[in-house]
Amino acid sequence: MRIVLLGAPGAGKGTQCKYIVDKYGLLHLSSGDILRRHRSEGTQLGEKAQSFMDSGALVPDDVIIDMMIDEISRAPKGGYVLDGFPRTVKQAAGLDEALDGKGQGIDAVVNLDVDEEAVVRRITGRRICPKCAAVYHVETLKPKVDNICDKDGVELVQRPDDTAEVVKTRLQNYNEQTAPLVDYYKSRNSVYDIDANGSAEEVKGRVFGILDPLA
Ligand code: AP5
Repeated sequence: MRIVLLGAPGAGKGTQCKYIVDKYGLLHLSSGDILRRHRSEGTQLGEKAQSFMDSGALVPDDVIIDMMIDEISRAPKGGYVLDGFPRTVKQAAGLDEALDGKGQGIDAVVNLDVDEEAVVRRITGRRICPKCAAVYHVETLKPKVDNICDKDGVELVQRPDDTAEVVKTRLQNYNEQTAPLVDYYKSRNSVYDIDANGSAEEVKGRVFGILDPLA
């Protein structure tokens, strides 16, 4: 299966991808995680992306398209789930061009739809482990010991772009540049709109309800 997971910042894309990967054995390709990996490794790409990411702006399309097509070309045959990419119509067209040439189009687009209020609560409450990148939430997914990663005992941190101020910019960019992708895909692919309000477990049940018949 080749799946695109769409949704606003903080909609729960990364959270649902973990469930999808565990159940269907797909590779999780998150453009945000890949960019953060480049940053922590100090690559040229990571340095270029830093100021865009910290301010909540999108990294330029050409940089992202090249980076993600390269990752996809190295994915195993079992399939993958794309999280955070594509994020503009130009990126989606670049992806289609690369995949259509190989006869490997996207099988399903899953669109997580969440109220903006919930999205802000989810993002501003998110904490991550700087060592293993595990994701927690101050209310809905607490570590066993306050602010300490369950896996490696490291103190949790807040992503620099998870502040209330930057979230406003990210949501504005999402509404202007990413939301139009839903219509782009509706004219070409099977798009499944999912109500992503409610607990992560409830949303997981809805996502599996869509993906089980396709697996
Ligand atoms: P990226 O890392 O992709 O950020 P994002 O899309 O804004 O998504 P998030 O990671 O913030 O949220 P998510 O939907 O994965 O939510 P999560 O599951 O963690 O991108 C960061 C930046 O990189 C961009 O701003 C841009 O600069 C750059 N970038 C990346 N891709 C790009 C591209 N293609 N083009 C250009 N630039 C690009 O959940 C959030 C929190 O909520 C967690 O704490 C979680 O525990 C909690 N939670 C999840 N689900 C639920 C639930 N159902 N109920 C309660 N809590 C929940």
